[in-house]
Amino acid sequence: MNVLMVASECAPFVKTGGLADVVGALPGALARHGVDARVMLPCYPSLFPLLPKGVEVASFGDLPGGSGRLVMVEASSETAGLTLLLLDAPQLFDRAGKPYNGPDGQDWPDNHRRFGSLAQAAARICFDGLEGWKPDVLHAHDWQAALAPVYLKQTGRTVPKTVMTIHNIAFQGRYGPQVMPELGLRHDWFHADGLEFYGDLSFLKAGLVYADHVTTVSPNYAREILTPRFGMGLEGVLQARTETLTGILNGIDTTAWDPSNDPALPAPYDVKTLKAKSASRLALAGKLGLDTDHAGPLFCVISRLTEQKGLDALAAAIPHLVDQGGQLAVLGTGEPALEALFQQAAQDHPGRVGTFIGYDEGFSHLVQGGADAILIPSRFEPCGLTQLYGLRYGTLPVVARTGGLADTVIDANAAALAAKCANGFVFDEVTPEAISAALDRVFAAYADPKQWQAMMRAAMRQPVGWEEQAGAYVSLYESLLQ
Ligand code: ADP
Ligand code: GLC
Repeated sequence: MNVLMVASECAPFVKTGGLADVVGALPGALARHGVDARVMLPCYPSLFPLLPKGVEVASFGDLPGGSGRLVMVEASSETAGLTLLLLDAPQLFDRAGKPYNGPDGQDWPDNHRRFGSLAQAAARICFDGLEGWKPDVLHAHDWQAALAPVYLKQTGRTVPKTVMTIHNIAFQGRYGPQVMPELGLRHDWFHADGLEFYGDLSFLKAGLVYADHVTTVSPNYAREILTPRFGMGLEGVLQARTETLTGILNGIDTTAWDPSNDPALPAPYDVKTLKAKSASRLALAGKLGLDTDHAGPLFCVISRLTEQKGLDALAAAIPHLVDQGGQLAVLGTGEPALEALFQQAAQDHPGRVGTFIGYDEGFSHLVQGGADAILIPSRFEPCGLTQLYGLRYGTLPVVARTGGLADTVIDANAAALAAKCANGFVFDEVTPEAISAALDRVFAAYADPKQWQAMMRAAMRQPVGWEEQAGAYVSLYESLLQ
């Protein structure tokens, strides 16, 4: 079976969040099920070095954003084992800055053309094929790829089948109706049951309406987005197709994230050598200027600093965290006000709170390796990957009961502790008070090393890889092709 993945991010080449991790890891897991999945991406500057290694397999004169060519780069160690299809259109993608915005932080004004072009190129190659390779399934990720199923539907053909995955329904790709003609979308589909969302064009809604199947990244989020609180206005669209909406939990790349073999850690550790984790703690504390002889638990945050992540509420609980004997390591970047809050906290609590503002993949491994617990007080969280990395590294997740966090973390209540399956701490409200109450439970558990280590072992033994979830995608693809 052949699958064309279409996405705007893919680790390790271009990443703003978990979407990239998923797109980078899922194809390898699918390959173990005999699926040939290839990843189509915009050719951003970080991918330029790969262009000379590829071959041009298609060219387009008239995408919404002008001309472009598709360069296929075969899987090798340089492509992290992925077969990549790079949409080389320098007028759209050869830009300094981030995938969606310029150095000034503003969204690129032509994002509808940039990602409309990606989607249209993806749809066009489905029929001619690429040197004999034709997709059976087109799998679009998030709003940036969401028009691909629509362009396919416009052709009236029924193969390939299309899957639309929602990684975050908060990002929808919404533009005024004036962009319709540039994108080559059918005008008679511009209505409330089609492409239109309150007078505008919504890329994500369009994908949700016209894809053969919709998935999201955890079973719990699949239920939550049917409600007004989490559906962000699209709950009605999803309610209309609950039969073809599935939640499939994300996995993680357990080779790239392996505490027994991680070049970012000063010493390896595993479930049998938990004590060796302390070398990472020492290195992390040293790097962030935290007291190295501190006895209490070291918490961490690794996150985009945005409203979604609930970190304003956490920041207000920092004095309590420090008073009760904790330390905190923060790695994050995002909204300036939140960056300032955590920088201030580091100044207010020298030796106890250390903040690194920036994006640093290698350092994120050391933070997971060195901390005792990872704090994730998200207001909503479609899946969340940092709690899965935390589980794998014996860094117990302390999470809000939402989305995939609720599906993956087993709270340390009396029953779960007795059953030896507790692997973290779950709280209900994203408020400083509720977070402080959860912290108190962490302090109590940490004070009992036997119990803490039992939880670490339960965490590290929890299967968090892609094996099972990739199987769920394969079953879905197969059911669509029947
Ligand atoms: P989201 O996609 O909503 O940001 P996820 O938990 O799914 O949340 O994925 C976030 C990913 O980004 C994880 O791989 C996490 O380790 C990484 N990450 C977030 N912030 C940083 C940072 N400042 N430096 C390095 N990695 C980060
Ligand atoms: C999104 C979500 C996050 C999820 C990731 C990968 O960015 O915010 O919860 O883990 O996508 O699916």
